[in-house]
Amino acid sequence: KLPIAILISGRGSNMEALLNACDAPDYPAEVVAVLSNNPDAAGLDIARAKGIPAHAIDHRPFRQDRESHERAMDRALREAGARIICLAGYMRVLTPFFVKAWSGRMLNIHPSLLPKYPGLHTHQRALDSGDTTHGATVHLVTSGVDEGPVIAQARINIRPDDTAETLSERLLPKEHALYQDALRQFITDQASVL
Ligand code: GAR
Repeated sequence: KLPIAILISGRGSNMEALLNACDAPDYPAEVVAVLSNNPDAAGLDIARAKGIPAHAIDHRPFRQDRESHERAMDRALREAGARIICLAGYMRVLTPFFVKAWSGRMLNIHPSLLPKYPGLHTHQRALDSGDTTHGATVHLVTSGVDEGPVIAQARINIRPDDTAETLSERLLPKEHALYQDALRQFITDQASVL
């Protein structure tokens, strides 16, 4: 199994779904570390309860020095032996240092059908645009925010009475299934270079 790490900032439901997928003997990844920039992230406790090493590296003491924070994360990830990083609700834009350090080895899940709606408030923006479908994307992380090559997408229909909340609720289980499938596909396709 390929050692991976998951970066979170909050609830951690996508992280939990990846941890559960990795429990299957035939899944090609194992989670060696969960890191959060937020010490209060609920996902940290979920990971610890499953026996996964989970630590916060709080970004706040680093003040404006984003790169030093990410150098500290990079060290922790390498010490843990991670070969791939999955961002799962990691809500900070990464510095060029970190993006370059993990180039071709870092995946993100984003709650829109990219290239539509990079950034925040994706569900409301899909509604405001009158879209009839919405979805989520797993993509490789490059220096442009939410811009890297798409690995896989999941799609749902938008109903006339949908709100941002109902859309996000209906999309979330699709995200969970999508991320584990996309990671499996990525590892299988890239096996020779990872
Ligand atoms: C998920 O919907 C994920 O797609 C989104 O945040 C949520 C995290 O939930 N990610 C982004 O918006 C990234 N910019 P979770 O912590 O329960 O996985």
